[in-house]
Amino acid sequence: MRITALQIAPTEAASELAMEPIILTDSLEKVYRVGKVKVPALRGVTLTIDQGEFVAVVGPSGCGKSTLLHILGGLTRPTAGRVLVDGNDFCCMKDAEMTRFRRDKIGFVFQRYNLLPTLSARQNIALAQEIAGNGFNPHRFERVTKLLGIEGKLNSRPFALSGGEQQRVAIARAVICEPKLLLADEPTGNLDSENSQVVLSMLRQLNEELRQSVVMITHNPEAAAFADRIVRMRDGRIVSN
Ligand SMILES: Nc1ncnc2c1ncn2[C@@H]1O[C@H](COP(=O)(O)OP(=O)(O)O)[C@@H](O)[C@H]1O
Ligand SMILES: [Mg+2]
Repeated sequence: MRITALQIAPTEAASELAMEPIILTDSLEKVYRVGKVKVPALRGVTLTIDQGEFVAVVGPSGCGKSTLLHILGGLTRPTAGRVLVDGNDFCCMKDAEMTRFRRDKIGFVFQRYNLLPTLSARQNIALAQEIAGNGFNPHRFERVTKLLGIEGKLNSRPFALSGGEQQRVAIARAVICEPKLLLADEPTGNLDSENSQVVLSMLRQLNEELRQSVVMITHNPEAAAFADRIVRMRDGRIVSN
């Protein structure tokens, strides 16, 4: 259940209100260059997302959703404008610092799962913990795999898992190191509607139980219904928020 400011003690409410938003962007622009051609992908995106929010980003193909998500995740630099994640201004970060920040604070989920095919589900998830240098945390591992309902699938390799199961493993991998922010690009894009519902309700549960902020791109109107807020984009701009 979501805790509102009214339900918590005044001092706690004050500190909650004083928290930095998880995401703050100001007039973000992105122009890709393809040879001599300039392709404008973002044309001034100003957006604030609070800690713990679950936001869906919707809009027609090519309107700049993935570009925005990649910028929020520090995978791409904007051409102009500012982006702060958890109070950290990306423009001041060198690439190595950005890589560390991304590893510690941000989890990514993609449409195509991107699991390593030669590793079991367990190894795929545990590898993320090792790479982060946190060592294996059995308590966290158990909590996350249970929440995602994949305890019985941990010894399977990706080819032996259904699409929905692979995506749940990919989500476990993304959140195993307790990132403050989870970014998902069309996480249900390859799933049938039943599996989509399962994956979406799990994202929602992670958001509520682990208090993880989520930004999810989606084409699916049902998917957007799982979010607290819907941001609509068109032609590189936010048209409703
Ligand atoms: N790496 C790239 N190089 C050149 N153009 C790109 C690149 N990535 C995206 N674009 C262009 O930027 C625009 C926005 O793309 P994208 O952010 O992927 O939109 P969406 O995710 O909403 O479909 C599109 O016109 C797309 O063709
Ligand atoms: Mg996209």
